[in-house]
Amino acid sequence: MSTKSEVIFKVKSLKKWFTTRRGLFDSLTGKQEYVRAVDNISFEICKHEVVCMVGESGSGKTTAARLILRLEDPTEGQILYKGNDIAKEKQSELRKLRRHMQMVFQDPYESLDPRMTIFEIVSEPLRVIKICPRSEIPIRVMKALEDVGLIPASDFSIRFPHELSGGQRQRVSIARALILNPEFIIADEPASMLDANTRIEILNLLLDLQVRYKMGILFITHDLAQARYLGHRIIILYLGKIVEQGEVELVIKSPHHPYTKALISNIPVPDPEAKRERIEIEGEIPTAIQLPPGCRFSPRCPYAFERCKEEEPELMMKHGRLSACWLD
Ligand SMILES: Nc1ncnc2c1ncn2[C@@H]1O[C@H](COP(=O)(O)OP(=O)(O)O)[C@@H](O)[C@H]1O
Ligand SMILES: [Mg+2]
Repeated sequence: MSTKSEVIFKVKSLKKWFTTRRGLFDSLTGKQEYVRAVDNISFEICKHEVVCMVGESGSGKTTAARLILRLEDPTEGQILYKGNDIAKEKQSELRKLRRHMQMVFQDPYESLDPRMTIFEIVSEPLRVIKICPRSEIPIRVMKALEDVGLIPASDFSIRFPHELSGGQRQRVSIARALILNPEFIIADEPASMLDANTRIEILNLLLDLQVRYKMGILFITHDLAQARYLGHRIIILYLGKIVEQGEVELVIKSPHHPYTKALISNIPVPDPEAKRERIEIEGEIPTAIQLPPGCRFSPRCPYAFERCKEEEPELMMKHGRLSACWLD
């Protein structure tokens, strides 16, 4: 994909290590302790592409999203937006870029200001980043509300968030993200707090808008079924590291990394054509503080051998996709 299409974002060796409270205390004694929330990840997203980032809770998905949009400062690494590194760009410069990249957050109950009307919420980015005359704002807001299915838009525009359902609120968040006509949005588990029917409506809406607005989307989810439904490419994260990355159908039909295999073997709706062995992984996801030597999945991996416990595998090309695993 990257050879044919224009790359919008390229993330290189990106890291975010948070200092733990104990770490701050220990800094007095010279021993720092870190949460390696994002630990050296590299990937790219092309124009008009939907990339899904999948991982269990705590794998670093939200931190990665916040880094890309520079809502968080990276510890190390590069974030190239159309070739320019924005990893260390000043906030004043970033403000100019914000119109091209927007975020839809996970929780539709927390992400909207309860004191503002829907009109005020959706128009706010236009009032901050002045890309059109004030007189044009109402027309743009009505169009965005209609595009996300909040019809009649004039009725919805005068309501407050508490008067709307979870699904309608998430539509408001999406309208707010679209109002600046962004090139790229990050949707961080936008459907995970919604019931099954509303979830599919929101996924279909995003797919429709992606084509109509010609956007790239980084879609974050812990649910492989959602990733398969939406994505062109998939990135599997485990404890802050990418363990597998490739075309979504290839990775889901024939996963390489044992962690991906385990995630897929646990999808509740199995693909009837694929005979899958069910892989049980033992133990809870550990924290990203005390990582084991070698492959960080090795303590839970049913296939781990000596090398896995000593040497950390980086992403390698394996059967048409990238996998960070020593197995062939
Ligand atoms: N501001 C922060 N300070 C310290 N640790 C953090 C902070 N934000 C996230 N973390 C830790 O980083 C890891 C990854 O978190 P997060 O990016 O939210 O994962 P996900 O979105 O995949 O659930 C977790 O261990 C989390 O506790
Ligand atoms: Mg998250």
